[in-house]
Amino acid sequence: MTLCVLNGEMMDLADARISPMDRGFLFGDGVYEVLAAVDGRVRALSLHRQRLANSLAMIELDVDVDAVFADLQALQEASGFRDSKLYIQVTRGPVEARDHAFPSKVTPTVFMMASPFVAQQLAPTTALVRDDIRWRRNAIKSVSLLANVLLKQEASAAGAGEVILHLDGWVTEASTSNVFCLKDGGLVTPPLSDSILPGITRHLVIELAEQQGLGVEERPVSVSELSASDTVFVSSSTRGLVSISRLDPGGPVGTGTPAPEFTQLATAYDALLHQHQ
Ligand code: PDD
Repeated sequence: MTLCVLNGEMMDLADARISPMDRGFLFGDGVYEVLAAVDGRVRALSLHRQRLANSLAMIELDVDVDAVFADLQALQEASGFRDSKLYIQVTRGPVEARDHAFPSKVTPTVFMMASPFVAQQLAPTTALVRDDIRWRRNAIKSVSLLANVLLKQEASAAGAGEVILHLDGWVTEASTSNVFCLKDGGLVTPPLSDSILPGITRHLVIELAEQQGLGVEERPVSVSELSASDTVFVSSSTRGLVSISRLDPGGPVGTGTPAPEFTQLATAYDALLHQHQ
């Protein structure tokens, strides 16, 4: 049996039911979070809680985030997984009639599920480089992910692991992760803006780099700068830090082997995940 929590009730995932009139289903009107729990502990919990609160505020949806996270802790404990991937989705809930504008009073749908997670260093991969065809409010962790889905599918069909996105030649992020490059021993990443998700792993990588004495620059990064970097890598809660050996178009990155600073950061990130506090 796979457990989930739907509107505060823990149940078998096979028994969970949501109305077809749910605005999440009709309009993609909702937000989500993906977290990792390692050694039985949810990682970076307060950062994820704050980001969910921010996403909800940006879509004007009033939900008790503390209650959501209390349910999440209960689910994580009950799931029995030592390491798990936790998914939370909050939508504007079911409505009487389909209307783009939302009613003033709604009953949000709050759903969460846990699945097994293997925290491991993934092999270097190829990234496609494509126009960022998404909407312009990407700081909201919206469940409307059709552009990301189509981009990731294109990568998957081409045997690539990610798609790095750009607006007019300026890197935003990747289809499911944030983008970094290492150049002359320093770390560079596009600054936070409406064009990117404020990744929790991005936040942790910047902290770790600063602790390691690496220079960190949050500034615009051009696509041509990527190929000229020593190492390009992407970051996310589910895949950790993954180096990009080849860009398409763009060719090989650096020597094809990640710089020592990447290995240091990836090792420090892994240690952080397993840290007992
Ligand atoms: N995605 N940018 C995008 C577009 C993402 O979808 C994600 C994560 C990130 C990285 O965020 P974080 O470090 O907080 O995981 C950046 C999750 C894993 C997903 O959609 O499954």
